[in-house]
Amino acid sequence: MTTVHPLVDTSLLPSATHEEKVIRTAHAFYEHLIGLWAPAIIEAAHETGIFAALADRPVTADDLAASLHADPRTTRVLLDALYAYDVIDRIRSTDSFLYVLSDAARECLLPGGVFSIAGKMVHDRRVAWSAWANLGEVVRQGTRTGTENDNQISERDYESLVGGINFWAPPIVDVLTDELRRRGADGGTPATVLDVGCGTGLYSQLLLRAFPAWCAMGLDAERIAPLAAAQGQRLGVADRFLVRSGDFWTEDWGTGHDHLLFANIFHLLTPASGQRLMDLAARSVSATGTVVVIDQILDAEREAKTPQDRFALLFAASMANTGGGDAYTFQDYDDWFAGAGMKRVATLDAPMHRILLAQRL
Ligand SMILES: C[S@@+](CC[C@H](N)C(=O)[O-])C[C@H]1O[C@@H](n2cnc3c(N)ncnc32)[C@H](O)[C@@H]1O
Repeated sequence: MTTVHPLVDTSLLPSATHEEKVIRTAHAFYEHLIGLWAPAIIEAAHETGIFAALADRPVTADDLAASLHADPRTTRVLLDALYAYDVIDRIRSTDSFLYVLSDAARECLLPGGVFSIAGKMVHDRRVAWSAWANLGEVVRQGTRTGTENDNQISERDYESLVGGINFWAPPIVDVLTDELRRRGADGGTPATVLDVGCGTGLYSQLLLRAFPAWCAMGLDAERIAPLAAAQGQRLGVADRFLVRSGDFWTEDWGTGHDHLLFANIFHLLTPASGQRLMDLAARSVSATGTVVVIDQILDAEREAKTPQDRFALLFAASMANTGGGDAYTFQDYDDWFAGAGMKRVATLDAPMHRILLAQRL
């Protein structure tokens, strides 16, 4: 398994005098600044075809450079950098090294797998790099504050991103499934799920696997809906997973759904559009149904006590970059729930996320 090792060992630095404290602080901040190296190095390997080449067999830097028509020395530099990040491994072979991609790393890094992060790398290169470079300008100008989804990620960009964040779903759905079972859900009783902005549909597809009598409908944009349908086939739930393509602001969602799922949707929205989406949810969920929000959610003080908090505080900056979104607080959600005639009935933690369950009053 890959471990994240610190790169700058601040424990070796004294901090008795003011100057020593300044130097130690500079070391700590420098480690944040070189965070930029990681995506640059990993995405360069993706872009040059190094991961695809290593997937075939372990190979030396010289052989890899020859097969990719690349420069041998910089190929070796990049391979060693990937090794330093624990992305690849290397084994000594006479006078050089063989570079190796583990089975798990291969499935993450090459396109095509359900949990591949290749789409995230494509998204970074198309959208995130330039957006991050523009964050100062966003801070000066403010993000947009319209009443609808102001996120500037295009459908084309979502085509790569949605698969690239699939790996988020399984541990979250495990936590959600346990809570739903605790509240009486069982595999034998039919229930319906509407997965709003479903992306690949993985959250509702995994729920269908856990609850064999349930059916789900995914709703997403025209270019994304076919991805969800294809993945439903791949995961063997296509007979219970339908997809509708359309804009969730204007489509009719129908009524009487037992579960309404919003996975990674509210963080895309402006505060005004958050209330509007919650109003639509309250109209569409059944009288005894549950609205499930899965998102980066903070407490009112925006504390950084847990990994979820820290991730959410940073995720908010990422959302500011690409639109009007944010990591909203429990209070924001409670206000939207109350405004829509609902109340929060459960709060759960999962990696990088919190899960809120709400019901109509
Ligand atoms: C961050 S992704 C989340 C996808 C999925 N729920 C997940 O968590 O993996 C946001 C999704 O919302 C969809 N979306 C955003 N605005 C939409 C709109 N107005 N109508 C339909 N889908 C929309 C995007 O196409 C994208 O698939």
